[in-house]
Amino acid sequence: MRLILFGPPGCGKGTQAELVQARHGLAHLSTGDMLRAAVAAGSEIGQRAKAIMDAGDLVPDAVVIGIIAERIAQPECAAGFVLDGFPRTVAQAEALDRLLDELGIGIDRVIEMQVDDDSLVARITGRFACARCGAGYNDSFKPTRAPGRCDNCGGAEFVRRQDDTEETVRARLANYHRQTAPLLPYYRAKGVLHGIDGMASIDEVTEVVDGIVGQRRDH
Ligand code: AP5
Repeated sequence: MRLILFGPPGCGKGTQAELVQARHGLAHLSTGDMLRAAVAAGSEIGQRAKAIMDAGDLVPDAVVIGIIAERIAQPECAAGFVLDGFPRTVAQAEALDRLLDELGIGIDRVIEMQVDDDSLVARITGRFACARCGAGYNDSFKPTRAPGRCDNCGGAEFVRRQDDTEETVRARLANYHRQTAPLLPYYRAKGVLHGIDGMASIDEVTEVVDGIVGQRRDH
């Protein structure tokens, strides 16, 4: 299964991609995570990307196409993958098609998670993660079970993304509507697009995504 989770910033792509990875054994390819890792490592790509990401703009197509091309060819993707945050422009979608053509494969499903803009701002400004293990939380929608303690590893330090301010979120949303939403007709025409209600709870969205991805694996 080769899946794209599609939608505006904060719609739940990362949350659901983690669950899809765990439940369906697909590699999780997040261009946002890859770029943040490059920034943290201080690599050349990271240095170029940092200011662009902090402003809520899109990193140049050639950069993200390059990092995705490298990952998709790895053995971890052979059994299938879920793309989170890529493609985001028509040029990226066309490049992805060319890459997959060369490998003799294609995209099976694109799931568009529909959430209204004001809810997205509330979700993103409330997001935080464990500094030790990276588990994701939200002040309003997914708090830690014990205050100040990570459910997963017990860590007591948490971090927030630099681009999760209201001002930057509004810029990211504007970019989504201008550059990324125009991809929807591209995937609709291929017959792989599924629009779902991303306003539902995390568990309800997971159930719908599971239904689209296929039979859930037993662990
Ligand atoms: P990226 O990291 O991809 O950010 P994004 O697309 O803006 O998406 P987010 O990670 O903010 O949100 P999400 O949809 O994953 O939501 P999440 O599950 O976390 O990109 C960051 C930047 O990198 C870009 O701005 C750009 O500069 C650059 N970049 C990345 N890819 C690029 C590309 N292809 N081309 C060019 N530039 C690129 O959920 C959000 C919050 O809501 C969480 O707190 C979560 O707990 C909560 N939540 C999730 N689901 C629900 C629900 N159903 N109900 C209530 N709360 C929920």
